[in-house]
Amino acid sequence: MILSGAGISAESGIPTFRDSDGLWNNHRIEDVATIEAYYRNPEMVHDFYNELKPDLLKAEPNPAHLAITRLQNEYKNGTVSVVTQNVDLLHEKAGNRNVYHIHGRIDEAVCMNCGQVMTAKGEVTTETVCPQCGVPAMMKPNIVFFGENLLRMNEVDALLDKCRLFIAVGTSGAVYPANTFARTAKYHGADTIEFNLHTTVNNRDFDRHVIGKAGETLPIYVDELLKES
Ligand code: APR
Repeated sequence: MILSGAGISAESGIPTFRDSDGLWNNHRIEDVATIEAYYRNPEMVHDFYNELKPDLLKAEPNPAHLAITRLQNEYKNGTVSVVTQNVDLLHEKAGNRNVYHIHGRIDEAVCMNCGQVMTAKGEVTTETVCPQCGVPAMMKPNIVFFGENLLRMNEVDALLDKCRLFIAVGTSGAVYPANTFARTAKYHGADTIEFNLHTTVNNRDFDRHVIGKAGETLPIYVDELLKES
């Protein structure tokens, strides 16, 4: 299993959340990424994601994403799943398969009235009407806010149970429960490795740390894995 965070998209020009130029340095999580914020001030939440959306949709995958496609195509020792905390679609654009967006996707919206998920490559506002139930002002970006449950966790739990190699790429390990996945995988007998610019808060969960830019370090590691397999 590969668990990716914002760091894997940094070299594609997408800001991370907690680095020096990160999104949470210029916006308060409480204002734009909690379910309370959405009910208190939906316009501000919609503006935040509507502003982010064009750059996220325009971004191109970098060698880290492409290395995962190569690994999935050539690895003989098992299936490679990608569990991503990212809401961008660079894994898909790179040709990655088995991608699980546990924090949602920037190109979708969900109706808070009936649960319908719709594709939303354009702006979502309080005027957007749900195509399923017809109720206006109840569409929200299909992005998991703090205080909401993650998506696809049943599938992710099953993957963790049988995971033999856990690879974290570009995540600070700051957010629960994604920051417990390495420990869970290890408990089930997996080897664990993290790729980051530096060791992270949950570095004790990793057997190995590869320091550097993922666009450079992950392709080298994929070469290593493919030689072994
Ligand atoms: N290569 C490898 N790692 C990188 C690179 C790079 N080129 N650039 C940055 N990083 C690392 C940083 O060192 C940092 O540890 O990526 C990590 C990004 O951490 P965060 O900004 O906290 O992003 P992430 O871990 O994905 O955040 C998790 O928090 O706010 C929520 O929902 C949001 O999904 C997000 C979650």
